[in-house]
Amino acid sequence: MSEKFDIGLGHNDYTLRKQGDSDFVSFWSDQAKNLHWFSTWHKTLDWRPPFAKWFVGGTINASYNALDVHQSAKSDKPAIFWEGENGDSKTYTYGDLFIEVQKFSNVLKSLGVTKGDRVTIYLPMVPELPIAMLACARIGAIHTVIFSGFSSASIKDRIEDSKSKIVITADGGYRRGKIVKLKEVIDDAIEGFDFVEHVVVLERTKNKISILPKDKLWKDLMKTISDSCDAEKLDSDHPLYILYTSGTTGKPKGVLHGTGGYLTHLYSTFKWAFDIKDSDVFFCTADIGWVTGHSYVVYAPLLHGATQVMYEGAPDFPDVSRMWNILEKYSASIFYTTPTALRMFMKFGDDVPNSFDLSSLRLLGSVGEPINPEVWKWYYKTIGKQKCPIIDTWWQTETGGMMISPLPGLETIPLKPGSATLPIPGVDISVVDEFGSDVPPNTKGYLIIKNPWPGMLLTLWEDDEKYKNVYWSKYPSCYYPGDYAMKDTDGYLWLLGRADDILKVAGHRIGTAELESCIVSDCDVAESAVCGIPDEIKGEAIIVFTVLKDGVTTDKNILEKNLTTKIRIDIGPIATPKQIYFVSKLPKTRSGKIMRRLLKSIASGEKIGDTSTLDDPSAVDEIQKIITKN
Ligand code: PRX
Repeated sequence: MSEKFDIGLGHNDYTLRKQGDSDFVSFWSDQAKNLHWFSTWHKTLDWRPPFAKWFVGGTINASYNALDVHQSAKSDKPAIFWEGENGDSKTYTYGDLFIEVQKFSNVLKSLGVTKGDRVTIYLPMVPELPIAMLACARIGAIHTVIFSGFSSASIKDRIEDSKSKIVITADGGYRRGKIVKLKEVIDDAIEGFDFVEHVVVLERTKNKISILPKDKLWKDLMKTISDSCDAEKLDSDHPLYILYTSGTTGKPKGVLHGTGGYLTHLYSTFKWAFDIKDSDVFFCTADIGWVTGHSYVVYAPLLHGATQVMYEGAPDFPDVSRMWNILEKYSASIFYTTPTALRMFMKFGDDVPNSFDLSSLRLLGSVGEPINPEVWKWYYKTIGKQKCPIIDTWWQTETGGMMISPLPGLETIPLKPGSATLPIPGVDISVVDEFGSDVPPNTKGYLIIKNPWPGMLLTLWEDDEKYKNVYWSKYPSCYYPGDYAMKDTDGYLWLLGRADDILKVAGHRIGTAELESCIVSDCDVAESAVCGIPDEIKGEAIIVFTVLKDGVTTDKNILEKNLTTKIRIDIGPIATPKQIYFVSKLPKTRSGKIMRRLLKSIASGEKIGDTSTLDDPSAVDEIQKIITKN
């Protein structure tokens, strides 16, 4: 029996859950009325599995709902308290953001951007990043933000796939006191791309950059431009953004999100999960380059006219107290972070947070990976002083917003450390076996979602077939997220990690296929297999097994260094492996499939079962010997 925490801080409104469960279509229709629509919808849901259109006939604009709607009551209210890594800080009110966004919308128009065009944004965590996103949304352009830790090869693929007309970047960004030369990375990535017409460059670090013919400085473009730009009235399913994410194939998938449904999902979940109030100061540590930043740094808080803190840099720079320092400085009341960050903070010891006044906190959130009960309890006791509920939110890039979470803004339920509790109202979730039958309570199975929800992806960018195959083919008419889960006897859901070949390293999603295709493109490598093993801080760490081509005699240490560098250059530092092993063969089935799960068990030091189905069981002996030697 797992421990329960009756925190009792929530509301007691169970009517929404009842309505959501009995008729999710009319339920979401009611929720959508919280937003501003230029014209209302005539049909709430047009469901032609697996394609959903929400709020058909309705017209809306994300930027209008984030900014214009607050101008009469909140133009002087801080929207963003921005904290630079180097100690710079700046406050943007709702009025300031409104002006900057309208100006940048006009800049985009002056550069020839029109409705439906794609704009790639590769910026550090600076206010100009949400400004650029909201400007795209305002004129109906589709933004595609790329995490500023990705390398030029990864960016190249993404820009080529989206055929972005404009790229927005900065001279550099700060990371652990060093300057990351973002502009150089972009110059490399777009070489030969004639379809990229302009590169807009923001000066953040003032490091020297080369100015190329396509380049235009942000500050020059903004100097004399008009600060008035009406928001476009867009169809509810007009694409708001593409966000690339790792899948089980070599190339990242372009997850495409719409507008009306997505905003409805965000508005509702932000209100329910964080019980948001006008006086709150919300601090989400996610980088905007990932979906949490899109949904719960940019859109959801602004839809609510909330005040938030946005931090530019590393959580442990200049020292390990930085996060608590920021929380205290801005009197943050809601903190939303990842289990990886929490495990790191926990390792630094309780004295660090204990020397700050964190009494302003009232809610604590977690996202991105399973939170282990030990860390949950530490978060609850040491950071929340046993008065803040832990809001463990399960969702994905594809779901757009939270799908399983405690909802203190709606109802009070006991919390259990390690469980994300119940699905949000209107969402029907089961845990099933291979054949789609519900598994008994407390049994591990596959998570499935049985009805459409408003935040769901529209499709994969220009690849409807892949969208159908990846998410909707395993179980008829059900969405398959690729996660293992378990339901206990109270109906609480426990998320148990990925069931496919996707790793979660420090909360970042990395496909083993993406890594393997990078490694085998090295001229010394014949074959490679990648797996994840448990890691005390990052949740999972990357382990690489490599078979070299015949005749390669280079020293293994040099090869290891070269491969690590290659991965860091081709994908980015987040994909740096913990260990690279050189072996003479990989364990395969007789049909030639690499047994990654077996590699994972060996590398994690777990017991391995029957190896008789292997084509050559001696592969396992060799790997075991090599791992023991290390
Ligand atoms: O495996 C689940 C894990 O993160 C995956 C989605 O990753 P991504 O698209 O990068 O989005 C992360 C931020 C929403 C899921 O399939 N995951 C996310 N949240 C949780 C989680 N695993 C367990 N508990 C969570 N709260």
